[in-house]
Amino acid sequence: MKQDVETLLTNLRTDHRNLAMLLDLLQGETQRLESLEEPDYELVHDIMQYMTSYPDAVHHPREDLLYRHILTVRPDADENLRRVEADHDNIATLGVKLRDDIDSIAAGTFVKREVIIGELRSYRETLLTHMYWEERELFALADELQSDSDWSNIDLGGADDRDPLFGSRVDRKFRRLMAGIQQRIVWDNQQYFV
Ligand SMILES: [Fe+2]
Ligand SMILES: [Fe+2]
Repeated sequence: MKQDVETLLTNLRTDHRNLAMLLDLLQGETQRLESLEEPDYELVHDIMQYMTSYPDAVHHPREDLLYRHILTVRPDADENLRRVEADHDNIATLGVKLRDDIDSIAAGTFVKREVIIGELRSYRETLLTHMYWEERELFALADELQSDSDWSNIDLGGADDRDPLFGSRVDRKFRRLMAGIQQRIVWDNQQYFV
């Protein structure tokens, strides 16, 4: 599937605002854990279920394609941009570990509070720092290059790109999460992020 880079960037930036809002919810649960309160593990589970599906399977691979697309016209940008793929691997690894530990707790396994707090903090900080970097470097360069009409279409392959939570239809497995989001915040995701 070919898409113009402008639409791709708009979609990626929308994803970032959605992800930042979810990280905000994770932060609230982290603070509850730190205050020795019982966190909403169901909410954390659902968020990590989403994080390890749509962002890891669609959002990040699209940014990898954008990075490769940039290199076709600006190979010299590689030194500055090449961390993007390693960042994505790292975020996926942290996310899966956190998701699995939350699942273990749900299954009755004891996991130390400090371990979960550390994983939550590390995941949030890593993803936020990464998204800020992308907005500042990767997306900014892509914005600049759009005036080159030969470059302005990108092949995204044929993968299913539907967002199962924030897309036009909420998937059954994310309905509880959507209800939780709507219950917790006045949903104006423009207030979130960059
Ligand atoms: Fe990314
Ligand atoms: Fe991103």
